[in-house]
Amino acid sequence: MKQELGRKFMGWDAGFASRADSGDLSVGIIGLGYVGLPTAIGFRDAGFNVWGVDLSDRIINALHEGRNPLGDPDLDDMIPAPDSDRWTITRSTAEATAACDVLIVTVPTPVSDDLKPDLTYVESAGRAVFEAAGKGNRKVVILESTVYPGVTASTWLPILDELGLTEGVDVEVAYCPERFNPGDPNHGVRQVARVIGCSDPVVGESLVHLYRRLTVEDVRYVGKVEVAEATKVIENVQRDINIALVNELAQIFPELDLDVEDVLSAAATKWNFHRYTPGIGVGGHCIPVDPYYMMQRAQEVGVPAELITAARAVNRMMPRHVSGVLRELLYRAGVPADGGRVLFLGWSYKAGVGDARETPADPLAASLIETGISVSTWDPYLSAEDIPDGIDVIEDIDAASDFDMVVLATAHPECMDLDWQGLCARMRTPILYDGRRVLDLDAMQAMGWKANAVGSPNKY
Ligand SMILES: NC(=O)c1ccc[n+]([C@@H]2O[C@H](COP(=O)([O-])OP(=O)(O)OC[C@H]3O[C@@H](n4cnc5c(N)ncnc54)[C@H](O)[C@@H]3O)[C@@H](O)[C@H]2O)c1
Repeated sequence: MKQELGRKFMGWDAGFASRADSGDLSVGIIGLGYVGLPTAIGFRDAGFNVWGVDLSDRIINALHEGRNPLGDPDLDDMIPAPDSDRWTITRSTAEATAACDVLIVTVPTPVSDDLKPDLTYVESAGRAVFEAAGKGNRKVVILESTVYPGVTASTWLPILDELGLTEGVDVEVAYCPERFNPGDPNHGVRQVARVIGCSDPVVGESLVHLYRRLTVEDVRYVGKVEVAEATKVIENVQRDINIALVNELAQIFPELDLDVEDVLSAAATKWNFHRYTPGIGVGGHCIPVDPYYMMQRAQEVGVPAELITAARAVNRMMPRHVSGVLRELLYRAGVPADGGRVLFLGWSYKAGVGDARETPADPLAASLIETGISVSTWDPYLSAEDIPDGIDVIEDIDAASDFDMVVLATAHPECMDLDWQGLCARMRTPILYDGRRVLDLDAMQAMGWKANAVGSPNKY
């Protein structure tokens, strides 16, 4: 039988911090995707009464059956049984808001087709919470979605005004960015440091108590909401810039007949050199998206974010650059320009996760297909419906044959550990391209592959 909290009070008061310390709070998570679901499970494991809300039938139905709806296999054994204590899954934000002290919003923040921030999910999820929050209840509403500085105030405060609610009287608003890394058990929701922004320092400090139960790492109140918002976005901007540098070097050095990895290994002997690995491009819901949020805000205040813009352009163009390299390899091996057959190993944007959002495999494949090359893929983490039309999906890698080139697009362990010798024997032309710099090219060559890699001069 489910056990619920017996209290009447639901919201913020002077006893909030001590109730957080003892787990005596109900926490609602709005949006149960890659961030929200592990967050909901994390708060439940930390002892809180948890309500999870999503609008997607796929997510709700899976959770109502105790199944993992996401492509992150780390969650497979963690989904609470539907009748578990302190665990309620619903489509109704109103119901969850009425039942909870704290509402945490973890909805998507994508970019539109013209690469502008799309804040419609933040707006509508916030509206649904505030409409149900009621006057005087002091529900705590925390945004965790990644946004640029100013979004929480500019998106949510007008809704409060419209509904006749006052921050600090009827509701408390805060921002606490999520920084965990899906597919990486060492940096899960219970292991990453958190920063909290809130216009009221007393409320902000009390929220430190809430998140301290969630994570073993540092939790800090950092001042106003905008500081916490900016923190998250610059973390991803910095990664985009660092990766762009190494991706640019991966284009320059092969022209100088140098392998970028040899140069990076040598440079990394210096104490303050930070090493990054080049690849076919940058994917996922964060790094290829968040810099556009920062660029938008910089533009609004009249500052040209030139470095951020240039880095984004380098990473965005990387699949097109790699496509040119692959076409040259096929041409050199005598494969007719419009008859080549290329197999991508992996399609997800990152290793070990079945998440194809913004995967660089997509523009790379599209660019090859444009020139008449056919593209197939094998990804043990994805099903056929996750792969775009026009790409042939290989179910059994041990039966894959007659390809002219294999591109390691995602370094899934299953891709690294496959029978490379057997696959080589079944190729029409045994060209290999390591798009992640994870393979031992000499060993591959010894097996009979014409082994090449991103950032390395084309050998064959
Ligand atoms: N995925 C990551 O690795 C990661 C890491 C840190 C931060 N973030 C940020 O976290 C946010 C969420 O990302 P995600 O990867 O979890 O997205 P996601 O698409 O996996 O999940 C979002 C979920 O929200 C649901 N949703 C949308 N509108 C809703 C509403 N009004 N009410 C209830 N549910 C609603 C969707 O159905 C979906 O299941 C984004 O801002 C992202 O940038 C993501």
